[in-house]
Amino acid sequence: MLQKVRKAVFPVGGLGTRFLPATKAMPKEMLPVVDKPLIQYAVDEAREAGIEEFVFVTGRGKVIIEDHFDRSYELESVLRERGKSDILDELQNSLPKTGTVAYIRQQEPEGLGHAVWCAKRYIGDEPFAVILADDLILSDKPCLAQMMEAREELGGGNILAAMEVSPEHTSRYGILKPGYDNGKIIEVKHLVEKPEPKDAPSNLAVIGRYILEPSVFDILENQTRGAGNEIQLTDALCSLLKNSPFYGLRFDGTRFDCGDKIGFLHANIAFALKRDDMNQAVADIIREISSDL
Ligand code: G1P
Repeated sequence: MLQKVRKAVFPVGGLGTRFLPATKAMPKEMLPVVDKPLIQYAVDEAREAGIEEFVFVTGRGKVIIEDHFDRSYELESVLRERGKSDILDELQNSLPKTGTVAYIRQQEPEGLGHAVWCAKRYIGDEPFAVILADDLILSDKPCLAQMMEAREELGGGNILAAMEVSPEHTSRYGILKPGYDNGKIIEVKHLVEKPEPKDAPSNLAVIGRYILEPSVFDILENQTRGAGNEIQLTDALCSLLKNSPFYGLRFDGTRFDCGDKIGFLHANIAFALKRDDMNQAVADIIREISSDL
């Protein structure tokens, strides 16, 4: 029987330099889209996909993330006194259960591959998911849940989220070389981290959702530095795909790069327009502003 994916890794050690000065003292993962921090969207997506244990790979200045996923008794008692039961329920329901969350410090910012490797002892010998909170996806069914379904259909293997990007933007992403491609599932033949357009094997980019076999840890253990002089997850996946089935999933949904200011603003507008309690007001503001452009 296919082994269930029960654990997810959230690499949250990055410095967020693309978002300074906002991220000088605040982790980029705590930036809110409408009224929820990016990391909460990531955790909610994981829970909806059936994840039971949550491993955050953090760094200095990130303890606020731990506070966010903890009870706040003072706040809860004030909300209770004031009869604000809706928001109280929402806060309580958004918390992963006690004992299911772990925080591991990545002591040096050595890259995404190194961050994932830091979770090795906690994950052990089972398949696991990786979610990059910067990549926010608006979809009917959460992207990771789509990937879990694809994994069931395929009978296992490694899966990453994939999306076509404009050819001039390949240097922002891991880019895959496709083999068999039925429009939804793509066989991954090769991967290159952030290639210049002339060197890119396609314009199919890796988006920050992965389901991986634990053998990736042995590869990461000895992974040499790659693009940006960092230990790249993409390079380790390149070795992994030589011995283990590897697929990309063209997911249904819109992805926003929330590590980027424009992508983040775009996400805020798109998510606000999806909300029944504010879509009219936001649409009015957009109409008013754009009439002056
Ligand atoms: C990371 C990965 C890259 C992937 C991207 C998706 O890059 O290394 O392969 O395409 O996330 O957002 P980063 O954006 O952290 O530089």
